[in-house]
Amino acid sequence: MSTNKIPYLKHHDGTQIQAIGLGTYSSLGGDCERAVLHAIDVGYRHIDCAYFYGNESEVGAAVRQKIKEGVIKREDIFITSKLWNHFHEPERVEHACRKTLENFGLEYVDLYLIHWPFSYVYRGDNVMTPTDENGEVELSDVDILDTWRAMEKLVELGLTKSIGVSNFNSEQLSRLLANCTIKPVQNQIECNPAFIQTQLIELCKKNDIVVTGYCPLRRGNPATRTPNYIYDAKVEAIADKYRKSTAQVVLRYLFELGVVPLPKSSNPQRIQDNFNIFDFKLDELDHAVLQTYNTGDRLILAKQAIKSKNYPFNVIVPFC
Ligand SMILES: NC(=O)c1ccc[n+]([C@@H]2O[C@H](COP(=O)([O-])OP(=O)(O)OC[C@H]3O[C@@H](n4cnc5c(N)ncnc54)[C@H](OP(=O)(O)O)[C@@H]3O)[C@@H](O)[C@H]2O)c1
Repeated sequence: MSTNKIPYLKHHDGTQIQAIGLGTYSSLGGDCERAVLHAIDVGYRHIDCAYFYGNESEVGAAVRQKIKEGVIKREDIFITSKLWNHFHEPERVEHACRKTLENFGLEYVDLYLIHWPFSYVYRGDNVMTPTDENGEVELSDVDILDTWRAMEKLVELGLTKSIGVSNFNSEQLSRLLANCTIKPVQNQIECNPAFIQTQLIELCKKNDIVVTGYCPLRRGNPATRTPNYIYDAKVEAIADKYRKSTAQVVLRYLFELGVVPLPKSSNPQRIQDNFNIFDFKLDELDHAVLQTYNTGDRLILAKQAIKSKNYPFNVIVPFC
């Protein structure tokens, strides 16, 4: 598919992202590098990464390789990374971002997100999950607003073009919006047919914040035939109608709900398939069928941080 047919979304600060991005969590080493090289050849210009994923070097190597080959220019590709939980103290934020840039071998990232609203005690750059003698994560109590002010400085320094958040609930987002100088351009949240988060999406839209959706395929596993909607006859029937796969139907559905899906794959064929969702359109009945899977079943619970006052998933919403 030619890249000029791929829709882009504009952030409120003027930067733009392709309406689909390659996820890279659990994509490691050579697999990750090959996935990103292939994704760029296929046409992806939006890669989602994070310090926590431990693969910034491989993502960076692939991007730099494609720039060297003349396939892309740096400004053609949008790279997101994320501030991990042990770097929340304001004086560590710039160091964390510079470390990410060093890993990538790049001069700037396009978007830097606060990965989670809760924070951990700092025990060294590489100690990403500090634990106490009982094996519990050592939580710290950094105010999100203090971290955000340090994030804003990164834009001034030119280390990132845009800043945003991830896993922020409606209250955390509203408090940030009421107290920031630079508004977040994105909230990256879990979004898949079983857990759409309609109300949070609406709040983001109202405030001109783009929603990127993680776990769009719910970390599917063919061996266990999960998630159900990938293997269900009703979704298969929709897929057959458009000559698409059920995964493509799901990704298209999220796109039509106004969410930018971030499917991860290390498989060349699936990387390509997941990108090819912009040449068909679901109808109202398809939407009605897909809506029936929205049971409000959150996949990613981050239970290790449940005792943090910034744990984001305690806010009860009437329906997802
Ligand atoms: N901000 C956050 O807190 C947060 C949390 C989680 C994830 N994320 C981001 O969101 C991305 C996506 O989430 P995720 O990786 O957790 O899960 P996901 O994208 O929902 O699922 C990935 C799984 O689906 C398989 N898959 C990919 N394409 C497929 C297809 N067309 N048909 C069937 N199976 C397919 C992959 O296997 P193969 O590789 O073998 O294809 C992999 O096992 C992450 O990679 C990461 O970038 C962010």
